[in-house]
Amino acid sequence: MSTSISNTYEDFVKGFHPKSGLDLKFYKQNQMQRRILSFMNSHGHPTYPEFLKALNADPVLYDAFFKHLTINVSQFFRDATQWKTLRETIFPLLLQNKTPLKLWSAGCSSGQEPYSLAMTMMEYFSMAKFSILGTDIDVNVLRQAKEGLYKQNDFASTPPEFLQKYFTSSDKGHQIHDSVKRQVSFQPQNLLTDRFQTGFDFIACRNVVIYFTEEAKEMLYKKFTDSLRPGGILFTGSTEHLFGLNHLGLKPVSSFFYQKQ
Ligand SMILES: C[S@@+](CC[C@H](N)C(=O)[O-])C[C@H]1O[C@@H](n2cnc3c(N)ncnc32)[C@H](O)[C@@H]1O
Repeated sequence: MSTSISNTYEDFVKGFHPKSGLDLKFYKQNQMQRRILSFMNSHGHPTYPEFLKALNADPVLYDAFFKHLTINVSQFFRDATQWKTLRETIFPLLLQNKTPLKLWSAGCSSGQEPYSLAMTMMEYFSMAKFSILGTDIDVNVLRQAKEGLYKQNDFASTPPEFLQKYFTSSDKGHQIHDSVKRQVSFQPQNLLTDRFQTGFDFIACRNVVIYFTEEAKEMLYKKFTDSLRPGGILFTGSTEHLFGLNHLGLKPVSSFFYQKQ
């Protein structure tokens, strides 16, 4: 029984790749299979081949499934302690050596992370020049990022004065100001297969690799290291410790911040 599910899963992975550009072989099979089967059950699709057909025929179903697979939960200033370290230690360190700073939020979801970077720069380093790139594989979250309208629960970790200063609130939600929007450019990108720009001073890639296989993570962290300038810093999620740093050419500067040597 488990062999036949496994075979069928592999066929599904092959069938889904050309349409989506998402190669699920880079993602942990157990977790992905569980997520796919739960979606199929809740939407009344009994088998992988039938489900693939339905995905090809129904764009609304496809978008809902892609969203379910990519898990784009985010928040402004997620993990407040790390943002304090960023403000008090990491950005001052980077600004000693270079301006303008070139920053990248990789796997940026609906923009909460790159906009948090922009607000931090605007609030605490107002004289510094910088650019911020936000990328994600999911074009729907990038559309939301560009729109910049957020719900109250996006602000659970946000100091209230930031909400007051950089957003206009109404019954529709909290609209980010154009002054912040202008600091960030968004682009679709698959971290596993697309080429990266180079010369970054800072890359945030947080809560993105949770479902990647060990090989995919290794490949990705190598690509990030190649994209950083010497002295540049990689910021990871609060469960994502990097091992084998010498081999990657990174050294820890603080918890979850790694510097290219
Ligand atoms: C949980 S969110 C993290 C958002 C933000 N970095 C944070 O920590 O709050 C993960 C994001 O990674 C994106 N993602 C997953 N696989 C990806 C891939 N191969 N390439 C680019 N983005 C990917 C998802 O679409 C999702 O928006």
